[in-house]
Amino acid sequence: MRVLIVGGGSREHAITDAFYRSVHEPVIYAISSNANPGILRICKKTGGELIKGNINDPMFVADMAEKLSVDLVFIGPEEPLFHGVPDELEHRGVPVIGLNSKASEIEKSKAFMRRLMWKYKIPGRLRFKAFKSIEDALAYIEEYAESVAIKPARQAGGKGVKVIADIQAYLKKVKEEVKKKHAERIYSQIMARYRDIEDKILIEEKVEGPEYTIQCMTDGESVLPFPPVQDNKHAFEMEMGPETGGMGSISGRGNILPFITEEEYKESVKIIEGVVKALRKEVNQDFRGVISGQMMLTMIWGPTIIEFYARFGDPEAVNVLPLLETDMIDICEAILSRKLHKVKLKFRDKATVVKAIAPRGYPNRRDLAKGHPLIIDEKKIKELGGRVFYGSVNLVNGKMLTGGSRAVEIYAEGESIEKAAEIAEKCVRYVRTADGWALFHRSDIGSPISLKRMIELAELVRSVYTYRKSRGILGKYIDWIPGRGKIVYES
Ligand code: GLY
Repeated sequence: MRVLIVGGGSREHAITDAFYRSVHEPVIYAISSNANPGILRICKKTGGELIKGNINDPMFVADMAEKLSVDLVFIGPEEPLFHGVPDELEHRGVPVIGLNSKASEIEKSKAFMRRLMWKYKIPGRLRFKAFKSIEDALAYIEEYAESVAIKPARQAGGKGVKVIADIQAYLKKVKEEVKKKHAERIYSQIMARYRDIEDKILIEEKVEGPEYTIQCMTDGESVLPFPPVQDNKHAFEMEMGPETGGMGSISGRGNILPFITEEEYKESVKIIEGVVKALRKEVNQDFRGVISGQMMLTMIWGPTIIEFYARFGDPEAVNVLPLLETDMIDICEAILSRKLHKVKLKFRDKATVVKAIAPRGYPNRRDLAKGHPLIIDEKKIKELGGRVFYGSVNLVNGKMLTGGSRAVEIYAEGESIEKAAEIAEKCVRYVRTADGWALFHRSDIGSPISLKRMIELAELVRSVYTYRKSRGILGKYIDWIPGRGKIVYES
């Protein structure tokens, strides 16, 4: 069997590793814009190779899949999906795991996703407004003083999300200016790059609570969920600094997170199943691949959708794929033959922590973060109980150079999240640069203090949403208008 992996980050390294463990002993090929040392090593061990090239070019990927006579293509990142790589492969009869361009709108267009949830009345939906022009967005910001999340309406690699709480009336004007400036930045800097979407800016109601990701594989009918993982998006400790693609993540023993109940997990999976069903109706096409709910426990709904990914998360995939005991090729074959409902996933029962290590400059000055030689003592990291998953690294003439994003992710597992975090922390110091350029990571991820904070926040949110549920007002808003009384409306 010959498998082709598309993409060159830590997530794809973990996917490649999952295929490498298959009893079917596939020959593994990869296409990536960078020579990822981890993926390259696995490909070579199986007799395959890593081909450098444009992963977003459907013709290039499909030509290569045909030339290599692969039996299966697995697509890791979102942009090849948006660019129609799976569509071209399907058109040529090459089996592919990756949502086609129409179905991947669920991630690409945040307005499409919100409209879908509203149209099909799926629980966990938030109030939103989408704007095609900056003028309309600015007029709305002037008219309504609300606590909001302002986002690019397209998936833009996690960039540009800003949450602004508007509670102090005396700061209304200042907050309005901040909101307007941010909307302008999204419009002129982030969205200017994309010509493949009409909606430009999304303004959503602000919600608060612990976040978690549920990654699922789907054959377009059934949904096979993985254990929940919590990613940490901010660059620096205690949620400071700019948003990144994710600086590290945790998963708990018993395949659950310590701040999410079994019932909340099941409720979250039901929401994802509802969206897959609605998506199938809406796009009126078969699709197969990965769909992940990036969720939050909120006071208004309990489990709530913040975003969807049409793929595994990065770093979230690195938490769960090393624990997967079910054969990756068997799962993919079940997806391709639409028999996913027959598969039961098995995972080793360990808590895991993943810590991303990035060069200084990431995420806002990737030009500065790029091109620094890395020295990684993999032997020492292994002795300590950790593993290295290579990310934005390019192997050039035997030297590993940083690519400007998260360079590596350290994976550790243990009997508890805290224990796994301790191992990961010890391993981090064995990653450094040869030119002295600073690297950073988040020491707080998986620490007792951050877990405690998360558990307390979840308890608070849970007490409110379960009360609302008992009163039959889950997902409903209540306004009091003098002279008219109580107005209840649906979220
Ligand atoms: N960890 C966030 C993402 O994969 O986009």
